[in-house]
Amino acid sequence: MIKKVNVNTIKKHKENNEKFSVLTAYDYSTAKYLDEAGIDIVLIGDSLAMVALGYETTHSVGVEEMKIFTRAVARGVQRAMVVTDMPFLSYHTDISSAVKNCGEMIKLGANAVKIEGFSDYILDVIKRLVETGIPVMGHLGFTPQFLNTLGGYKIQGKTQEAADEILKQAKELEKAGVFSIVLEMVPQESAKYITENLSVPTISCGAGKYCDAQVLVSDDVFGKFSDFKPKFARKYGDMKSLILNCAKQFDEDVKSGKFPSAEEIF
Ligand code: KIV
Repeated sequence: MIKKVNVNTIKKHKENNEKFSVLTAYDYSTAKYLDEAGIDIVLIGDSLAMVALGYETTHSVGVEEMKIFTRAVARGVQRAMVVTDMPFLSYHTDISSAVKNCGEMIKLGANAVKIEGFSDYILDVIKRLVETGIPVMGHLGFTPQFLNTLGGYKIQGKTQEAADEILKQAKELEKAGVFSIVLEMVPQESAKYITENLSVPTISCGAGKYCDAQVLVSDDVFGKFSDFKPKFARKYGDMKSLILNCAKQFDEDVKSGKFPSAEEIF
């Protein structure tokens, strides 16, 4: 029987100093392949706003869209932990709608949710979600849903003082009950300092090699998304060329009459 990754597995990785992997997926077959490849956490990131839906920022995606992608991904995964990124305004207005929206994702097959940012209100949301039985992944450093208040895509935690502030926030998230924390666009040395002073694992998104785990957007890893490429993303393939080549060959074959062949008809 396949042993599903859960909050205890993630906790043990930190205790045993073992790294784990996180990739985003937005559809059934990608999720299935990531699971088969041994990825530990499959994240339905709100990055799908740009990558899958063509919006400019993550602000444009809503709960109903995240539900569709959550359902599709959860169906493809057997072993990995499935985490749904809660979209802008889905947990910000009041605690009961936060619990309802996050709970819907669990009903659809997610095993946990991800919540961005830090405030007294966010801490209360996290506590209530955990009390309800919904594991929460935190997200500090650069938080894309706060793009407008942060004033752009800016590295966070550059000075000792700023790193101390992120650590303080992370410790509060830890106390509220998160099982892990994404650190996005934080200098490597600051992320190392934060990671060494926490008991929950940190997940680097452009925060260097000392975090307990690494996350990337799978379309960057596959070389599929080409509108922009973050400095920290590594391209392991060239899916854009593969798609272009396949589509061009199909187009040629259709127009020259080479498709379908005798084997491809009834
Ligand atoms: O939306 C997303 O894909 C994310 C990760 C890259 C951390 O938040």
